[in-house]
Amino acid sequence: MEACYLRLESAINDVVIKTHPFAEIIYWGPHLSHFSPGDAQSLSRPVANGRLDVDSPVTLMAESGHGLFGSPGLEGHRDGLDGSPIFTTVNVQRTGQSLTLTSEDEVAGLRLTSEIILDACGVLQVRHGLTNLFTTAWQVNRFAVTLPVAEYARDVMAFHGRWIREFQPHRVRLEHDSFVIENRRGRTSHEHFPALMTGTPGFSESQGSVWGAHLGWSGNHRLRAEVKTDGRRYLQAEALYLPGEMALAEDETLWTPWLYASHSSRGLNGMSQQFHQFLRSNIIKFVQDKPRPVHLNTWEGIYFDHDPAYIMKMAEEAKALGVERFIIDDGWFKGRNDDFAALGDWYLDEGKYPQGLQPVIEHVKGLGMEFGIWVEPEMISPNSDLYRAHPDWVLALDDYSQILGRHQLVLNITLPEAFDYLLERMSWLLGEHNIDYVKWDMNRELVQPGHGRRAAADAQTRAFYRLLDTLRSRFPHIEFESCSAGGGRIDYEVLTRCHRFWASDNNDALERNIIQRGMSYFFPPEVMGAHIGNHQCHATYRQHSIEFRGLTALFGHLGLELDPVNADAKEREGYRHYAALYKQWREVIHTGTQWRIDMPDATTLVQGIVSQDKRQGLFTVSQLAMPDYTLLAPLRVAGLDAGARYRITLLDHPNILITDEGGHTMRQLPAWMTTPHIASGEWLMQAGISLPVLDPESAILIGFERV
Ligand code: DGJ
Repeated sequence: MEACYLRLESAINDVVIKTHPFAEIIYWGPHLSHFSPGDAQSLSRPVANGRLDVDSPVTLMAESGHGLFGSPGLEGHRDGLDGSPIFTTVNVQRTGQSLTLTSEDEVAGLRLTSEIILDACGVLQVRHGLTNLFTTAWQVNRFAVTLPVAEYARDVMAFHGRWIREFQPHRVRLEHDSFVIENRRGRTSHEHFPALMTGTPGFSESQGSVWGAHLGWSGNHRLRAEVKTDGRRYLQAEALYLPGEMALAEDETLWTPWLYASHSSRGLNGMSQQFHQFLRSNIIKFVQDKPRPVHLNTWEGIYFDHDPAYIMKMAEEAKALGVERFIIDDGWFKGRNDDFAALGDWYLDEGKYPQGLQPVIEHVKGLGMEFGIWVEPEMISPNSDLYRAHPDWVLALDDYSQILGRHQLVLNITLPEAFDYLLERMSWLLGEHNIDYVKWDMNRELVQPGHGRRAAADAQTRAFYRLLDTLRSRFPHIEFESCSAGGGRIDYEVLTRCHRFWASDNNDALERNIIQRGMSYFFPPEVMGAHIGNHQCHATYRQHSIEFRGLTALFGHLGLELDPVNADAKEREGYRHYAALYKQWREVIHTGTQWRIDMPDATTLVQGIVSQDKRQGLFTVSQLAMPDYTLLAPLRVAGLDAGARYRITLLDHPNILITDEGGHTMRQLPAWMTTPHIASGEWLMQAGISLPVLDPESAILIGFERV
């Protein structure tokens, strides 16, 4: 059949697909002002000597049968047969910027359905469905989405991490072979956030061409950036299946998770802004379109020590500080006095709450706040009534003993009885109490996840989605937070069913600066839980000023994670101040455009948000360690209106800045800090403003207001 070329376009980037006889993406890059299908012939490749006698396309399914010797998109077999399919296009349907391509291999008895959507924000969504057309099962070993990138995308960036240190960026120059991220932890994980960014060498926040991709999936995954020996490059992403885990019966279809990808010619800022805009218009759905309320979460304040009278006192203090949503964390249910017991026993601890939860809830509501509660439904403690009654409800392979994690086991929610039990208990909790918000935790990894003798990691992830979906449909007025030990389950698929992430169990402002910046590449501030913790952080024992902690939590969904009753007056005044500052600016922070600024000194992190109408800009400068240079480089502001004039104001700063005549590290402050200053947007973006010399572990907030 004749080759046919289709273009999906957005104002930012385009994708050109050759549809016949095999589907192949031949272009994914900046928007083309003109495109004529005839032009695409220019890319027909030569056939090099010394290798195969035909051209080998990197097709949409990246089949090895075309002579692709790299990582194929599909691996599997039918009891040893039909293991190298080649798909031929049989149908193409286009609606606007969405394409559905159907292709088949009649020999192997497989049908492939590919959905490709280019959103107006410049975000490409791709997924494949594989259908088994024969009567015997087809065993799926791997099933991936593959996207080609330009040959000049030589740098690769990804995130490594761990519990209390998530989203740590790292880079490699990739000239040959592959860079692979593999996650086998059974949840999205703290360690291997499912995303890759690749681009021109040295791409930065504001410079270079960047292709970014994120797999929307909350289980095991594999992502790969590969360079073929002929120099072509591609990104590949897939849910990772354990041996024997995935088999397709006749007419059954398996879908890959959605791969979300975006190309930007404006560096990482452009990529992030496209993803943020896409999420805001397509995925993030708050129960009510209302400002994100200030939280107080009890965990780091009282841990398991629950006394309703004291909790009500905490609520009163919280209210006085400006808190709008009060959340009772772990420790409220039967027998839960430490983390050694009780998961699964989702009944109220009547010893701790003899009058029930209701009086506390009413008190919180009476104070004018929303009420939230913590749960960890997917877990079971060996020391629990549930385990004693149903030891066989553990997610485990028969005849092996399960390893504990945080002294707990995983409940096998692929079992209908266990699923129904949870549904009933959660429905009791959410139906019988006036609850507005649920913090949904998940504190351990899956090891040998199984049902009978078969692996069941994928099924467990899907059952988790089903459970949450069912609860959301029963209780549509409730908002959910994806917590997972802080940062362990953050991805776009879970974001289709939750409203906030607990970004990390680490509230140390220094660490949070890096973690939150990392998270900002793919997520906007309104879904990033960012709390002011105690003066001494429980994760690191570091101590930070309230100003540094407050400003660090500002560019997120702000909360307090502490006991306001026993905090001293200065601390309390700080909580009140930052809650008020957040309320004053949250509209801009949660709807504006986010910018990360390239600075020559890695010890200085600068980020900002500019309102959609460019009337207001807010920038924080965080000094993480001793600066490398005596003076900080000027801040070249981003995102302002070049033709407008802006008043520059120092909105918040460490106390130390204003001692004596100058600051602690300065004899003289930059003039704009002491004398009101107005400058043009163009000047501020091209020339910038001088920054004060800041102490390590401190921050300032600068405002730009159009005059
Ligand atoms: C881990 C969470 O990340 C914390 O915020 C807290 O909810 C604890 N679990 C409670 O066990």
